[in-house]
Amino acid sequence: MTTTIKIENMDAALGARITGVDLARPVDAATRDAIAKAWRDRLILVFPDQNIGDDELIAFTRLFGDLDPPGPNPYGAPFLPEHPEINVISNVMENGKPIGNLGAGEAIWHADMTYIDVPPMGAVLLGLEIPKGEGNTYFANMYAAHDEMPAHLTAAIKGRTCVHDATYNSAGMMRKGYKEVTDPREAPGARHPLVIRHPYTGRDALFLGRRRNAYISGLGLAESEALLDALWAHATQPQFAVTHVWNERDVLMWDNLATLHRRDGFTPTARRVLHRTQIKGARALEAA
Ligand code: SIN
Repeated sequence: MTTTIKIENMDAALGARITGVDLARPVDAATRDAIAKAWRDRLILVFPDQNIGDDELIAFTRLFGDLDPPGPNPYGAPFLPEHPEINVISNVMENGKPIGNLGAGEAIWHADMTYIDVPPMGAVLLGLEIPKGEGNTYFANMYAAHDEMPAHLTAAIKGRTCVHDATYNSAGMMRKGYKEVTDPREAPGARHPLVIRHPYTGRDALFLGRRRNAYISGLGLAESEALLDALWAHATQPQFAVTHVWNERDVLMWDNLATLHRRDGFTPTARRVLHRTQIKGARALEAA
């Protein structure tokens, strides 16, 4: 069935709202291509009011590439054994055990799983239970952060790579199987260029991953820390960002290589449940 997709750009450095598509039904090729183009151009897409379950979430994600299963969580077992390719983001406890990851606190700015050699190129996140007006999620455009970087920062990171620590998630929880890192120079995780050429768009993007235990190769530790602080302060400025205020049944899809995201904390006794899939990256990231 052909659908009439409507794509409205948000009044921000990134983001588009997409209506006229029912993700519970097969998506035709023209609609899929229009979504793929908007994803590349606007980096974060919001599909409101999607009445879908896990099978449809997986089927929709597969339109854009192979699935990339979640990394190790703090509890050492998939949250949905029947769908290990889905990550559950939740603060809810059932029978004394968390049903998902990240709790109710802030999830700090990050991109997903950049601690592996080939990070996922995107993610799709379905909001199932949402505390009204809380737990907003923010996205920042790393093409814009690159293009508007002060000259002294551009010069300071030219040709440099950064260590992306695998130890902690964005809620500060240690992943199962890791031990505390006291010196970022010894952090376990992939090295990526600080400025990447995006494998699908060919555009140059600042690629930071996450701040904790990051280290810029070849610099003294103090110099690396100061430069990283300056880069993060630049990249997370409001003019590069957009805020998503959730409604239940929103589906978000983002470009993980050209954005950072963070989430506000929310009332711990409220229920917040989201299911997330990831789209596998094709190859190691190359320097711009
Ligand atoms: C995440 O993927 O980092 C979590 C986003 C959210 O909970 O809104």
